[in-house]
Amino acid sequence: MKIRTIEDIPEIKGKKILLRVDFNVPLEENGEVRDDTRIKESLPTIKKLMEEGGRTIIMSHLGRPKGKVDESLRLTKVAEHLEKLLKTPVKKSPEILGEETEKIIAEMEDGDIVMLENIRFTPEEEECEPEFTKKLAELGEIFINDAFGAAHRKHASTAGLAEHLPAHAGLLMEKEIKALSPLLSDEIEKPLTVIFGGAKIDTKIGIIKNFLGKADYFLVGGALANTFLAAAGYNVGESLYEKDKIETARNIMLDCEKRKEHFILPHDVICAEEISEEAQTLDVPVEDVMGDMKILDIGKWTTEKYCDILEKSKTVIWNGPLGLSEHTPFQKGTKTVAEFLAKHDCVSIIGGGDTADAIKSLGIDENGFTHISTGGGACIEFLSGDKLPGIEALKK
Ligand code: 3PG
Repeated sequence: MKIRTIEDIPEIKGKKILLRVDFNVPLEENGEVRDDTRIKESLPTIKKLMEEGGRTIIMSHLGRPKGKVDESLRLTKVAEHLEKLLKTPVKKSPEILGEETEKIIAEMEDGDIVMLENIRFTPEEEECEPEFTKKLAELGEIFINDAFGAAHRKHASTAGLAEHLPAHAGLLMEKEIKALSPLLSDEIEKPLTVIFGGAKIDTKIGIIKNFLGKADYFLVGGALANTFLAAAGYNVGESLYEKDKIETARNIMLDCEKRKEHFILPHDVICAEEISEEAQTLDVPVEDVMGDMKILDIGKWTTEKYCDILEKSKTVIWNGPLGLSEHTPFQKGTKTVAEFLAKHDCVSIIGGGDTADAIKSLGIDENGFTHISTGGGACIEFLSGDKLPGIEALKK
């Protein structure tokens, strides 16, 4: 995929650059940034623009304020956090468009950084409203998109600006595309294993379909596995599963069977009657699940089997935790598989969102993986083979 990068910008010095980042980061209750991974991942782009004398105007969304000002979703704390990481002032505008923003930008010098207010405080952002997009574009001379995590959205600041300004990918956007693109080509080193977890089938169907015929193994976990187990005729007790997706799950399994793909469901599972840190757990074969038992993780035998398959895999794509890993009693499956994969010599690609969060919070060595995406939904759509508006706008 050929996209315009920062290297293709003839002159950065003195130029007003509208930089879209995805600083949609988790916050503490007091508004401080809890996990700054996404901010750190965009630092190379920001530093490069600073060093080359650009005048960088940062745009990001935070949360889903639905087009209205939400005091708890202002970007003030995020700007302060960025300031600490960069060790340089970041001037934050209290608004998106308006006199204050214009004044702050007019006062900028080469190498300065300004951050606009949460771009989703106006409905026109998500509507990609033409007049708003045009006014936003008038603030700058070049548009750089580093927000891979928001590339699946066709919004003013993620795609619309490219109609008015020369549009280029930031270094993070470029890194994500470089890491994920080979998975959609024939360059994949086989055997290829795709691991699925998380709660909902709908969000993963695109990837499953896109890798049918390509993957050697599909390994399934999380609440998603319960829906497949129910579709295969097992009693899942009181486990979370999607009743209305049984037919979908059955069709996927039939499809895999026809293509002789290995679609592997848990053979044993960790069950409990309650979801808590103190929950008493039982590791049982799937056929023994009954009554008010809840399946909350893959069992020991299944974990070992999954690791055996990973051992012979040359490429692994992982999307979704294998159990309710935010609770200690149900994190062993995800933790063991992640630790194994981090040490295994192969191409390992981790989807962002919940999987990346689980790996971080379980203290797994993140350097053990080839790539951990910063995109949740964007990564899923990319791997589903969909066209992402934020990336399409950057194509040469
Ligand atoms: C994400 O967290 O996946 C991105 O920031 C996109 O957020 P959105 O789903 O609210 O568009």
